[in-house]
Amino acid sequence: MAETPRHPFLQDLSKHRGAPPTAVVIFGASGDLTARKLIPAVYNLAADNLLPPDFHLVGYGRKPITDEAFRELAASAIKEFSRRELSDDVWFRIAERTTYVAGGYDDPAAFDRLADHLAKIDEKVGREVQPLFYISTPPSVFAPILENLGSSNLAKKYLGKPHHAKVIIEKPFGRDLESARELNKTITGVLEEHQVYRIDHYLGKETVQDLLVQRFANSIFEPLWNRNFIDNVQITVSEEVGVGTRGGYYEQSGALRDMIQNHTMQLVALTAMEPPVSLDAEAIRDEKVKLLRAIQPIDPAVDVARAQYAEGMIAGKSEPGYLEEEGIAEQSGTETYAAIKLSINNWRWQGVPFYLRSGKRMARRVTEIAVQFKRPPGTLFAGGGFDLATNTLSFQIQPDEGLSLILNGKVPGLETRTQPVKMSFRYSTTFGSNTPEAYERLVLDAMIGDSTLFIRGDEAETSWKLYTPLLEAWEAAGRDGMGEYAAGSWGPSNADALLAATDHVWRKP
Ligand code: BG6
Repeated sequence: MAETPRHPFLQDLSKHRGAPPTAVVIFGASGDLTARKLIPAVYNLAADNLLPPDFHLVGYGRKPITDEAFRELAASAIKEFSRRELSDDVWFRIAERTTYVAGGYDDPAAFDRLADHLAKIDEKVGREVQPLFYISTPPSVFAPILENLGSSNLAKKYLGKPHHAKVIIEKPFGRDLESARELNKTITGVLEEHQVYRIDHYLGKETVQDLLVQRFANSIFEPLWNRNFIDNVQITVSEEVGVGTRGGYYEQSGALRDMIQNHTMQLVALTAMEPPVSLDAEAIRDEKVKLLRAIQPIDPAVDVARAQYAEGMIAGKSEPGYLEEEGIAEQSGTETYAAIKLSINNWRWQGVPFYLRSGKRMARRVTEIAVQFKRPPGTLFAGGGFDLATNTLSFQIQPDEGLSLILNGKVPGLETRTQPVKMSFRYSTTFGSNTPEAYERLVLDAMIGDSTLFIRGDEAETSWKLYTPLLEAWEAAGRDGMGEYAAGSWGPSNADALLAATDHVWRKP
């Protein structure tokens, strides 16, 4: 096959991290995630010259639209959602290699058409182009897509070579242990594990990756990182937004499935795992799974609190309660807030509670991991005149990304008075604020074949194994035990009681 001449704009794409020529095929091409995250991610990778030469984007969906109409959709998604403005130069590089294939997800003939389409791209480019399938559809069609990738032989394309077919699977990865196992079974019937990239977009966040760097590239933390020095760990993933127009989805999900079982557990795993033997994907994922396995079963009567938001004020605006939102059942038993106490039964963490909480319509959008250290013996600075805080190291995952340490210091003056002081590092002041979005990193990593920041099959199952009994208990309980919190607050009183039982209080991030 003859080499096609390169477009002048593609000449300087030499900075890429070694991704081979790739055709990214997005299933669910007209979906919300595609517009909000995936197309802008591809665009920003192009703007940073990180796409491989001969990059192609193929939208696949049920809607019968033309290539041109898909390009227009993509351009308007970039205008609306990209962190950078749409520049014609950059867009031109992608647009001329953006095409669309219309077809059903359960239609084998349509997948044969897709296979032909990809073969034509190979022919045009003059070499074998790595297919990267991104399944960004509702979970009900994950299985038919996977099966059709199998029956059309697309799943095995170039297997045995580095540019073999790869598949990214969006969340939710199952809705309990059984469905996750079922999905893993469908996957392994068609693909080898090394071809599979299960997404949790929290792993693509810069600050989540920084957690590993902070923990293992600094020597001062490791000696303290255990039950001898750490009193408790609090992980908060709070959002100001409510369920908005996603009521239908959220009613089937709730905070536990939507945020805790996946995103928050990734933060737990990276905070608490043992040092891996190398930075290899498998070495890191082995440690994460080992940690998840050490977590004790959660007692639904003791270790948890759940609640729904009621009417309240956020940023001076009155917001409705969950039950008043669109698409929510009158007597809905779905939690919009969950708090969990986890006990990790291993040498490092035994006796150190890990408190997790996540909720919608809370006071502020913040994701942070706060490691609270033990108090010093109360012999010296005890009594009324001393304002002492618990030493707390907090990783601010978002927004206002950074790291801070709360210490106690002396207030200047002739008497000895103390006051908590804060040392802070902020990404924006040190590195500037143009941080890549999680999806940029993840799409690039999958193109390169680096699965470090993706979930392995056994990892997904281990997390579901922990949470499935709790989900079942909540389902059986209906609204019994459901707390309430005002929109715009820091959560329900039953979550405060959860910590009070062990003499702890939630930190105000
Ligand atoms: C998604 C959840 O996975 O994560 C949403 O389905 C949630 O409900 C979102 O709002 C939060 O992501 P981020 O990156 O904004 O913290």
